[in-house]
Amino acid sequence: MSDRLRLGLNIDHVATIRNARGGAHPDPARAAAMAAEAGADGLTIHLREDRRHIRDGDLDAIRLASTLPINLEMAATEEMCAIATAFKPHAACIVPEKREERTTEGGLDVAGQHNQIAPIVRALAEAGSRVSLFIEPDPVQIAVSEVLGAPVVELHTGKYAELWLEGGQVAAADELENIKIAAREARSRGLEPHAGHGLTFDNVKPIAAIAEIAELNIGHFLIGEAIFTGLPAAIQHMRSLMDEARQEQAA
Ligand code: PXP
Repeated sequence: MSDRLRLGLNIDHVATIRNARGGAHPDPARAAAMAAEAGADGLTIHLREDRRHIRDGDLDAIRLASTLPINLEMAATEEMCAIATAFKPHAACIVPEKREERTTEGGLDVAGQHNQIAPIVRALAEAGSRVSLFIEPDPVQIAVSEVLGAPVVELHTGKYAELWLEGGQVAAADELENIKIAAREARSRGLEPHAGHGLTFDNVKPIAAIAEIAELNIGHFLIGEAIFTGLPAAIQHMRSLMDEARQEQAA
């Protein structure tokens, strides 16, 4: 369980910067091409309903640019399901999506939206994608995820990251505990836990040290940091913090 923790690099914000000018630069496919050598194990992209991040044409361009597995984040809508089942990403992560939000706020309510989500999970699985559900670290959401037949749950670390910003590790301690309990609960139900949202060089190690977690998906901070140090250096440093956390936890 404490094998190498995978790093999924979310490259949406390369596209966000490109889209600010409407042209072709910076190209998310170029970021995709650099990711593996720098230490990323996968690419995460979110095709939003309003296309504010990647656009439809980026899907094939990103796939052509890298051999890394693609994790496509998507809303539980018919439009996205049709695109994802045609594109057949390695993994498809269903996320809640509201037009007006700045980023994915809160986890998916799989318990409340079971009937809407169930056929989409089935369709994605039939298309060959590994389905993941982006949920709060909450035992009820995990139990329903198992019933829905998704092999993966991605635990939302947004609240943990916000608390860390407000008061550091002490302020985030209770939420860290919730994430640990949720990761254990997911494993005990045969689900593979991933985690992500708001992770940074400062707050990543306690999450990376949770042995049950198999993958972290990190975007905004790394793309922001890339402005100052370059993308490979930002990825490499995150990679080394994650590996250190795993080694310290195993020692
Ligand atoms: N995982 C999921 C499911 C997300 O929606 C996001 C944000 O797009 C992330 C991870 C990455 O979050 P951040 O950009 O804050 O690192």
